Amino acid sequence: METSHERVITEKFDAVTLIKINRPQSLNALDPLTLQQLGAAITAMEADPQTKVAIITGAGSKAFVAGGDIGVMQPLDPLGARRIAVDVQQLLNRIEYGSTVFIAAINGYALGGGCELALACDIRIAADNAQLGQPEVNLGIIPGWGATQRLPRLVGSSMAKQLMLTGERINAAQAAQIGLVNEVVTAAELMGRAHELAQSIAAKPKIALQLIKEAVNNGLEMDMNRAFAYEADLFGLCFATADQKEGMRAFLEKRQPNWRDE
Ligand code: CAA
Repeated sequence: METSHERVITEKFDAVTLIKINRPQSLNALDPLTLQQLGAAITAMEADPQTKVAIITGAGSKAFVAGGDIGVMQPLDPLGARRIAVDVQQLLNRIEYGSTVFIAAINGYALGGGCELALACDIRIAADNAQLGQPEVNLGIIPGWGATQRLPRLVGSSMAKQLMLTGERINAAQAAQIGLVNEVVTAAELMGRAHELAQSIAAKPKIALQLIKEAVNNGLEMDMNRAFAYEADLFGLCFATADQKEGMRAFLEKRQPNWRDE
């Protein structure tokens, strides 16, 4: 079933929800209405207990998202700019820290806020015609939707600084080389591969998926000793689930598990 929120279209495929930013005439640049509709789409998806994985992509063949809307930002005063940065950071944190697994299917330009949207996702796959970058310096600003923090954690501080200080775009192959995207496929294959990956993850038990995200995301913010203790706690928590009993029983009985997501 396809649900159109005009600037954000969602479509459900069993446990996978496709979220498409739909403003192709502006290369899917994120203006306040699009951001609001993206937030609403995520809220609706989270209310659906069946969904385990979301794929985010852009409408049209040119862009994933070409950034925050420059026309909207140009007249902002400092407090207005700070407000929008905080609001979008919170929206992107819902993607990174929420229980749904997010896959960015990068189908063209992922620049500025578009690259930051992809950075908040758990997995990034790119079409071979994609271009990624943080060109904010060319506008007299710094990235404000998370890149100064997420990009160095992902690709290392030196590479992150080079991308942000030069504002240069890199292609999909270069992005894969530095670990900014996980995989590169042809543009024709992109959505097929995104769905294949999403379905394979959606076939796993939901609580284990959630706890893997939590262990990685929260553990990265801790020192190693606390992080190991945290991992052990979450590992222990798995043993409170029906799926742990079922998964191990199925292995021992040499059959496929029947997950109950509980
Ligand atoms: N904001 C608003 N409009 C945008 C936009 C953006 N980020 N990116 C593209 N558009 C609009 C263009 O203005 C143009 O609109 P019109 O047809 O009405 O003129 C339309 O999309 C098509 O774009 P182009 O004609 O420029 O297409 P192109 O193929 O010649 O160039 C591009 C493509 C290289 C991506 C170029 O559009 C571009 O450089 N876009 C801006 C990229 C950018 O700087 N992004 C960062 C924004 S700031 C940000 O995101 C800060 C942050 O941290 C939140």
